[in-house]
Amino acid sequence: MKLLKHIANLGYGSRKQVTQLFREGLITDADGEVLYVDDQLPHESIRIEGEPLDPPPGLILMLHKPTGYTCSTKDSGRLIYDLLPPRFRLRSPVLSSVGRLDRDTSGLLLMTDDGALLHRIVSPKSQLDKVYDATLAQDLRGDEAALFASGELVLESDNTPLLPAELDATDARHARLTLHEGRYHQVRRMFAAAGNHVQALHRSRIGGLGLDDLPEGQWRILDAADLQRLFGA
Ligand code: URA
Repeated sequence: MKLLKHIANLGYGSRKQVTQLFREGLITDADGEVLYVDDQLPHESIRIEGEPLDPPPGLILMLHKPTGYTCSTKDSGRLIYDLLPPRFRLRSPVLSSVGRLDRDTSGLLLMTDDGALLHRIVSPKSQLDKVYDATLAQDLRGDEAALFASGELVLESDNTPLLPAELDATDARHARLTLHEGRYHQVRRMFAAAGNHVQALHRSRIGGLGLDDLPEGQWRILDAADLQRLFGA
């Protein structure tokens, strides 16, 4: 792909704006040699104002989402994209979240521009567990673990029963829930079906991948070893 298109697709500006960067001699190779719009060069060899380019397409990252941020490109409030470099919102192919977390849910969120990878992660075939820590408004009754594990619970406005899920209570108001599917507001609706209310919700794990010590509001790019952990290899 020509440099102009490649760089514009990474969100550095419209083709017109990126052409101007070339005109100003700001786009060089690693030795500082000025490059031109139709040059073809490996991604790693390109510099803009002396800085390496953002990662090429095929990007996957994990974000420690704080509460208060929406998984959307155009809500009027705080967006997950506000936590990333501004260019990431302008990339083509688009960088999108892998599934969603509610605005009031914190924790591990994956984002990728790789459609095939996204589908592999959300595909039921991959069977990636998702682990949530819930803080509840009322004490657990004691029958929730059996209800959630039954494979017979049908949530309001759903037609099919939920897959069995595992609940481990830490104390009367705190529980860890492991899901093997992802339905709309699933955790909140499950506890609502059990007569409770989720006050705080945090996702700590997807497949074999946890947040480790990534601070809230921070992100990092995943490498091949992370993907192996994600898919449990
Ligand atoms: N279940 C929910 O209810 N909310 C989330 O954000 C994720 C799972």
